[in-house]
Amino acid sequence: MSQTLPGGFEKDVVGYCDPLSARAGERIAFKLSSYAPGSAHVSVVQLVSGDDRPHGTGLIERELETDTDAGVELIEQPLVTGSYAHVENMPAAVTGDLSVWVYPTLVGELPQTILNMAGVSLWISVAGLGVATPAVELSLQAEIRECRWYHLRLAFGTSTEFSVHRLNAGVAETDGHWQVASDQGFALPAGDWYMAARCPGQQHFNGRLEAPTLTSEGSTVACWDFSQQMASRHIIDSAGTHDGVLHQTPTRGVTGVHWDGSEQSHVSAPAHYAAIHFHEDDLTDAEWQTSLTWQIPVDTPSGQYALKVEQGVSQDYVPFFVRPARGERTADLLYLVPTASYLAYANQRLGFVGGIFGEPTLRHANDAFLYAHEDVGYSLYEYHRDHSGVHFSSRLRPILNLKPKTGTWAFNADTHITAWLDAIDAPFDVLTDEDLHVEGAEALQGYKTVITGTHPEYYSTGMRDALADWLGRGGRLMYMGGNGFYWRIAYDPENPAIIEVRRAEDGTRAWIANPGEYYQQFNGEYGGLWRRLGKPPNELVGIGFAAQGFDGGTYYRVQPGALDPRVNFVVDGIDGADTWGDFGNQGRGAAGEEIDRFDESLGSPAHAVILASSENHKPGMLRVKEEFHMTEPLGNDAKVRADMVFFEVPGGGAVFSTGSISYAGSLAHNGYDNEIAKLTGNVLTRFLDPEPFDFPA
Ligand SMILES: [Fe+2]
Repeated sequence: MSQTLPGGFEKDVVGYCDPLSARAGERIAFKLSSYAPGSAHVSVVQLVSGDDRPHGTGLIERELETDTDAGVELIEQPLVTGSYAHVENMPAAVTGDLSVWVYPTLVGELPQTILNMAGVSLWISVAGLGVATPAVELSLQAEIRECRWYHLRLAFGTSTEFSVHRLNAGVAETDGHWQVASDQGFALPAGDWYMAARCPGQQHFNGRLEAPTLTSEGSTVACWDFSQQMASRHIIDSAGTHDGVLHQTPTRGVTGVHWDGSEQSHVSAPAHYAAIHFHEDDLTDAEWQTSLTWQIPVDTPSGQYALKVEQGVSQDYVPFFVRPARGERTADLLYLVPTASYLAYANQRLGFVGGIFGEPTLRHANDAFLYAHEDVGYSLYEYHRDHSGVHFSSRLRPILNLKPKTGTWAFNADTHITAWLDAIDAPFDVLTDEDLHVEGAEALQGYKTVITGTHPEYYSTGMRDALADWLGRGGRLMYMGGNGFYWRIAYDPENPAIIEVRRAEDGTRAWIANPGEYYQQFNGEYGGLWRRLGKPPNELVGIGFAAQGFDGGTYYRVQPGALDPRVNFVVDGIDGADTWGDFGNQGRGAAGEEIDRFDESLGSPAHAVILASSENHKPGMLRVKEEFHMTEPLGNDAKVRADMVFFEVPGGGAVFSTGSISYAGSLAHNGYDNEIAKLTGNVLTRFLDPEPFDFPA
């Protein structure tokens, strides 16, 4: 049945694809679902611009002639959230002893399953703990506090003994101990075990588990040591052969009961990190059936595309990226699509909360769908229901803001760049962050210029190294945004559809990583801001994050550097103006939202030319918090500015950086006839010219 969405919007159909980028000649699978099952019309479009706001660049799509059947039958596919572990084929145990450490983070009236042992479940609720078998129900009234460690022990057989011991949180608390015994006994049947859920989708547990251990007839049957293979989805039975598998990516590399603060890394002290944190709302793979696949014809030009699904008034676009066929390069320009940042912001709901992000308004059907569906999972900007920060994001689920006809942030804002490239007839190949991470600098080989999106904020070590490596060998980089190269991330080594962030130490953060949990589980690296990891964005692109504000943009004032003969090629045709970019569809100014500053103390190259600097920002444009030792009122903060810079790199290469997320929103002004479009086009033309840049003496 059709769903009713708030605001009177209608949208029943939604989908995602796998992979997100494929080469011409390869196949791509689309996973679609509708709340009104039935037939739908599908087509493949080249997606040039997705900004359908009245003052935006308009929706520009070009339908492809394809061999796909124009019709598809849609079913309703479920969204089942909640992480858990699954262990197959556990043996029966007639008598024995079960123990586990439990750290609840969100207990309620309803029971949450800690362990389901082939039908015998161990649960927790505000009332205490319990064991339920088909024949026996035993509850243990205990005072359950959130964020404390409890050691549970259950002896079973001809009778039952159930006890729990709570560890205090410091000298001011006392330990707690509760126990209960019963003449009624039970045995554990053979079968599958689940941890942190009764079964997928039922009675999920919020919190941490550590060292579940089963002994029977005096010997250890299984003891799961979660400190082993922490980067993987496998849980290891250190006593036997009963390894299990984790689903929906619970968090590992988190402090366990033995963490005493003497160690900060799960790499150096795994025994301190032998816990796994499960959430009832984790979702990293919706596991939907494939609705249709498309073999991308080998002659399909590299670019940005979408499957367009239409079902009555309901509509969905599923964007994807087509790379050239293997070994081919079909343009000198490469658009490096910041898909890691798309995942970081995937399904972010910041627009609904008001505050610095403006009035909470549902502006379109995709917003309304997202508002109504917590079950599509979170962005890296949100909290789980138990108030722990969301560490993972994945593209294997519907992402309502990785689409056209949504707010102009991340993906849809980046279509201002693809629309401009289309308007000036500049051919380009595409490469996604994920491709760059997996393939490294090799993937950039042969391109004369790489152009970024408006907000390439999230970078893995592999991505950053690849870009720096390519640049050092004569590459030319056009950094078209702000707040770029800011957070370190890690990709899941077993599935690059999933990324991880640890919001460590400081930074402009949606949440704060827990003490002792600054190291990434996927690769053991220390997480956080690249600025704090010895590789500030300034070293790569000349500028770094300075300020953010969402109450409107401003212009750049032309600086003396613009007269430097080294940048004559940039200002050609626009010389004489005092300001640039006092217009645009992103807050009416080219400098806004998130802006970056030239700063030699942070590694900006001393020989860089500052062409222009923004000024006269709105009151909401405030300096990034990582630059404050304590909060203090600031008047006219000279460090709140976007610097537009150019510099040469040894080897004949060069970098041009705009330093503002709003910049791309000014390209289309006056039919792409304005100084921002002109100077950006000048840069592109020169950057595509093989003539090396001379490194200044
Ligand atoms: Fe950002």
